[in-house]
Amino acid sequence: MKIFIDSADVNEIREVASWGILDGVTTNPTLVAKTGREMKECITEIAQIVDGPISVEVISTEHQGMVREAEEWARINPKNITIKIPMTTEGLKAVKILSEKNIKTNVTLIFSPNQALLAAKAGATFVSPFVGRLDDISHFGMEIVSDIVQIYRNYGFLTEIIVASVRNPLHVVEAARMGADIATVPYAVLKQMVSHPLTDIGIKKFFEDYQKIPKK
Ligand code: E4P
Repeated sequence: MKIFIDSADVNEIREVASWGILDGVTTNPTLVAKTGREMKECITEIAQIVDGPISVEVISTEHQGMVREAEEWARINPKNITIKIPMTTEGLKAVKILSEKNIKTNVTLIFSPNQALLAAKAGATFVSPFVGRLDDISHFGMEIVSDIVQIYRNYGFLTEIIVASVRNPLHVVEAARMGADIATVPYAVLKQMVSHPLTDIGIKKFFEDYQKIPKK
Protein backbone atom coordinates (compact mmCIF):
# COMPACT_ATOMS: atom_id res chain seq x y z
CA MET A 1 0.00 0.00 0.00
CA LYS A 2 1.21 3.48 -0.79
CA ILE A 3 1.37 6.11 1.95
CA PHE A 4 0.79 9.78 1.27
CA ILE A 5 1.04 12.58 3.81
CA ASP A 6 -2.02 14.79 4.19
CA SER A 7 -0.24 18.07 4.81
CA ALA A 8 1.02 21.28 3.20
CA ASP A 9 3.69 21.82 5.85
CA VAL A 10 7.08 21.43 4.16
CA ASN A 11 8.84 20.64 7.46
CA GLU A 12 6.49 17.71 8.10
CA ILE A 13 6.76 16.58 4.47
CA ARG A 14 10.57 16.77 4.46
CA GLU A 15 10.76 14.84 7.75
CA VAL A 16 8.48 12.02 6.58
CA ALA A 17 10.21 11.86 3.18
CA SER A 18 13.46 11.22 5.08
CA TRP A 19 11.90 8.09 6.66
CA GLY A 20 11.87 6.50 3.19
CA ILE A 21 8.17 5.63 3.28
CA LEU A 22 6.54 8.55 1.48
CA ASP A 23 4.83 7.99 -1.88
CA GLY A 24 2.92 11.26 -2.32
CA VAL A 25 1.20 14.27 -0.77
CA THR A 26 -2.37 15.50 -0.53
CA THR A 27 -3.18 19.12 0.25
CA ASN A 28 -6.39 21.10 0.42
CA PRO A 29 -7.12 24.82 0.95
CA THR A 30 -7.53 24.30 4.71
CA LEU A 31 -4.09 22.67 4.99
CA VAL A 32 -2.40 25.36 2.87
CA ALA A 33 -4.12 28.14 4.89
CA LYS A 34 -2.65 26.62 8.08
CA THR A 35 0.89 27.16 6.75
CA GLY A 36 0.30 30.91 6.31
CA ARG A 37 2.14 30.71 2.97
CA GLU A 38 1.25 31.76 -0.56
CA MET A 39 -0.21 28.70 -2.28
CA LYS A 40 1.93 28.53 -5.43
CA GLU A 41 5.14 29.00 -3.48
CA CYS A 42 4.07 26.27 -1.05
CA ILE A 43 3.10 23.73 -3.75
CA THR A 44 6.26 24.45 -5.75
CA GLU A 45 8.41 23.69 -2.70
CA ILE A 46 6.49 20.46 -1.98
CA ALA A 47 7.06 19.39 -5.59
CA GLN A 48 10.79 19.82 -5.05
CA ILE A 49 10.76 17.55 -1.99
CA VAL A 50 8.55 14.66 -3.17
CA ASP A 51 8.75 12.72 -6.42
CA GLY A 52 5.21 11.31 -6.39
CA PRO A 53 1.62 12.49 -6.83
CA ILE A 54 0.95 15.84 -5.14
CA SER A 55 -2.74 16.74 -4.95
CA VAL A 56 -3.69 20.40 -5.32
CA GLU A 57 -7.34 21.41 -5.03
CA VAL A 58 -9.21 23.68 -7.43
CA ILE A 59 -11.70 26.24 -6.13
CA SER A 60 -13.76 26.86 -9.28
CA THR A 61 -17.27 25.45 -9.29
CA GLU A 62 -17.66 25.25 -13.09
CA HIS A 63 -15.75 22.78 -15.20
CA GLN A 64 -14.14 25.37 -17.49
CA GLY A 65 -12.63 27.12 -14.47
CA MET A 66 -11.51 23.81 -12.95
CA VAL A 67 -9.74 22.88 -16.19
CA ARG A 68 -8.06 26.31 -16.39
CA GLU A 69 -6.82 26.04 -12.80
CA ALA A 70 -5.67 22.45 -13.42
CA GLU A 71 -3.60 23.42 -16.46
CA GLU A 72 -1.99 26.22 -14.48
CA TRP A 73 -1.07 23.95 -11.53
CA ALA A 74 0.13 21.13 -13.80
CA ARG A 75 2.81 23.46 -15.20
CA ILE A 76 4.67 23.22 -11.88
CA ASN A 77 5.37 19.53 -12.47
CA PRO A 78 3.30 17.79 -15.18
CA LYS A 79 4.32 14.30 -13.97
CA ASN A 80 3.38 14.70 -10.31
CA ILE A 81 0.85 17.48 -9.86
CA THR A 82 -2.57 15.89 -9.41
CA ILE A 83 -5.69 18.00 -9.52
CA LYS A 84 -8.19 17.61 -6.73
CA ILE A 85 -11.65 18.00 -8.16
CA PRO A 86 -14.79 18.08 -5.99
CA MET A 87 -17.40 15.39 -6.64
CA THR A 88 -20.07 17.32 -8.55
CA THR A 89 -21.48 17.07 -12.07
CA GLU A 90 -19.17 19.96 -13.07
CA GLY A 91 -16.31 18.09 -11.42
CA LEU A 92 -17.06 14.97 -13.49
CA LYS A 93 -17.00 17.04 -16.70
CA ALA A 94 -13.61 18.48 -15.69
CA VAL A 95 -12.26 14.99 -14.88
CA LYS A 96 -13.23 13.72 -18.31
CA ILE A 97 -11.52 16.65 -20.05
CA LEU A 98 -8.40 16.45 -17.86
CA SER A 99 -8.06 12.68 -18.35
CA GLU A 100 -8.05 13.29 -22.13
CA LYS A 101 -5.29 15.89 -21.57
CA ASN A 102 -3.31 13.36 -19.45
CA ILE A 103 -3.57 15.54 -16.34
CA LYS A 104 -3.95 13.42 -13.19
CA THR A 105 -7.09 13.94 -11.10
CA ASN A 106 -8.11 13.09 -7.55
CA VAL A 107 -11.88 13.29 -7.07
CA THR A 108 -12.32 14.55 -3.55
CA LEU A 109 -15.12 14.74 -0.98
CA ILE A 110 -16.32 11.23 -1.82
CA PHE A 111 -18.88 10.00 0.72
CA SER A 112 -20.61 7.14 -1.13
CA PRO A 113 -19.71 4.16 -3.36
CA ASN A 114 -21.86 5.58 -6.19
CA GLN A 115 -19.83 8.78 -6.21
CA ALA A 116 -16.67 6.66 -6.53
CA LEU A 117 -18.22 4.61 -9.34
CA LEU A 118 -19.07 7.74 -11.33
CA ALA A 119 -15.66 9.32 -10.74
CA ALA A 120 -13.94 6.17 -12.04
CA LYS A 121 -16.19 6.09 -15.12
CA ALA A 122 -15.31 9.74 -15.87
CA GLY A 123 -11.61 8.75 -15.84
CA ALA A 124 -10.37 9.82 -12.39
CA THR A 125 -6.80 8.81 -11.56
CA PHE A 126 -7.65 8.71 -7.83
CA VAL A 127 -10.73 8.95 -5.63
CA SER A 128 -10.65 10.12 -2.03
CA PRO A 129 -13.33 8.70 0.28
CA PHE A 130 -13.31 10.80 3.49
CA VAL A 131 -13.64 8.17 6.21
CA GLY A 132 -13.12 10.37 9.29
CA ARG A 133 -15.83 12.83 8.32
CA LEU A 134 -18.27 9.93 7.89
CA ASP A 135 -17.28 8.52 11.29
CA ASP A 136 -17.91 12.00 12.72
CA ILE A 137 -21.58 11.76 11.72
CA SER A 138 -21.97 8.16 12.95
CA HIS A 139 -21.50 6.35 9.62
CA PHE A 140 -18.79 3.70 9.40
CA GLY A 141 -16.42 5.49 7.00
CA MET A 142 -14.39 2.38 6.22
CA GLU A 143 -17.51 0.58 4.96
CA ILE A 144 -17.55 2.72 1.82
CA VAL A 145 -13.89 1.93 1.24
CA SER A 146 -14.67 -1.78 1.33
CA ASP A 147 -17.54 -1.23 -1.15
CA ILE A 148 -15.38 0.84 -3.51
CA VAL A 149 -12.57 -1.76 -3.45
CA GLN A 150 -15.09 -4.45 -4.42
CA ILE A 151 -16.77 -2.37 -7.15
CA TYR A 152 -13.46 -1.40 -8.74
CA ARG A 153 -12.29 -5.05 -8.65
CA ASN A 154 -15.56 -6.27 -10.20
CA TYR A 155 -15.10 -4.09 -13.25
CA GLY A 156 -11.32 -3.66 -13.43
CA PHE A 157 -11.32 0.13 -12.92
CA LEU A 158 -7.77 1.48 -12.77
CA THR A 159 -8.73 4.43 -10.54
CA GLU A 160 -6.77 4.21 -7.29
CA ILE A 161 -8.46 4.57 -3.92
CA ILE A 162 -6.94 7.08 -1.47
CA VAL A 163 -8.36 6.58 2.02
CA ALA A 164 -8.61 10.19 3.22
CA SER A 165 -9.72 12.08 6.31
CA VAL A 166 -7.72 9.57 8.33
CA ARG A 167 -8.01 10.23 12.04
CA ASN A 168 -6.10 7.38 13.70
CA PRO A 169 -3.75 4.42 13.03
CA LEU A 170 -6.65 1.93 12.89
CA HIS A 171 -7.98 3.65 9.77
CA VAL A 172 -4.65 2.82 8.10
CA VAL A 173 -4.69 -0.81 9.28
CA GLU A 174 -8.24 -1.22 7.97
CA ALA A 175 -7.31 0.43 4.66
CA ALA A 176 -4.45 -2.04 4.21
CA ARG A 177 -6.60 -5.04 5.19
CA MET A 178 -9.26 -4.01 2.66
CA GLY A 179 -6.73 -3.58 -0.12
CA ALA A 180 -7.08 0.18 -0.62
CA ASP A 181 -4.28 1.48 -2.86
CA ILE A 182 -3.27 4.43 -0.69
CA ALA A 183 -3.87 6.03 2.69
CA THR A 184 -3.21 9.75 3.05
CA VAL A 185 -2.21 10.26 6.63
CA PRO A 186 -1.71 13.36 8.80
CA TYR A 187 1.76 13.80 10.33
CA ALA A 188 0.53 13.13 13.90
CA VAL A 189 -0.99 9.79 12.85
CA LEU A 190 2.16 8.81 10.92
CA LYS A 191 4.12 9.32 14.14
CA GLN A 192 1.60 7.19 16.05
CA MET A 193 2.09 4.43 13.43
CA VAL A 194 5.83 4.40 14.11
CA SER A 195 5.55 4.17 17.88
CA HIS A 196 4.88 1.26 20.21
CA PRO A 197 5.43 1.41 23.99
CA LEU A 198 7.05 -2.07 23.96
CA THR A 199 9.57 -0.82 21.38
CA ASP A 200 10.50 2.07 23.70
CA ILE A 201 10.76 -0.25 26.72
CA GLY A 202 12.88 -2.68 24.67
CA ILE A 203 15.30 0.05 23.52
CA LYS A 204 15.69 1.33 27.09
CA LYS A 205 16.35 -2.18 28.47
CA PHE A 206 18.89 -3.04 25.75
CA PHE A 207 20.69 0.25 26.42
CA GLU A 208 20.77 -0.39 30.18
CA ASP A 209 22.06 -3.95 29.66
CA TYR A 210 24.68 -2.69 27.19
CA GLN A 211 26.11 -0.56 30.03
CA LYS A 212 26.61 -3.78 32.09
CA ILE A 213 28.82 -5.40 29.42
CA PRO A 214 32.47 -5.23 30.56
CA LYS A 215 34.47 -2.83 28.41
CA LYS A 216 38.21 -3.25 27.67
C1 E4P B 1 -7.75 14.48 1.71
O1 E4P B 1 -7.17 14.56 0.65
C2 E4P B 1 -8.10 15.62 2.57
O2 E4P B 1 -7.09 16.60 2.46
C3 E4P B 1 -8.15 15.28 4.03
O3 E4P B 1 -7.89 13.92 4.24
C4 E4P B 1 -9.36 15.81 4.73
O4 E4P B 1 -9.28 15.39 6.06
P1 E4P B 1 -10.11 16.08 7.25
O5 E4P B 1 -11.47 15.47 7.24
O6 E4P B 1 -9.33 15.69 8.48
O7 E4P B 1 -10.12 17.54 6.98
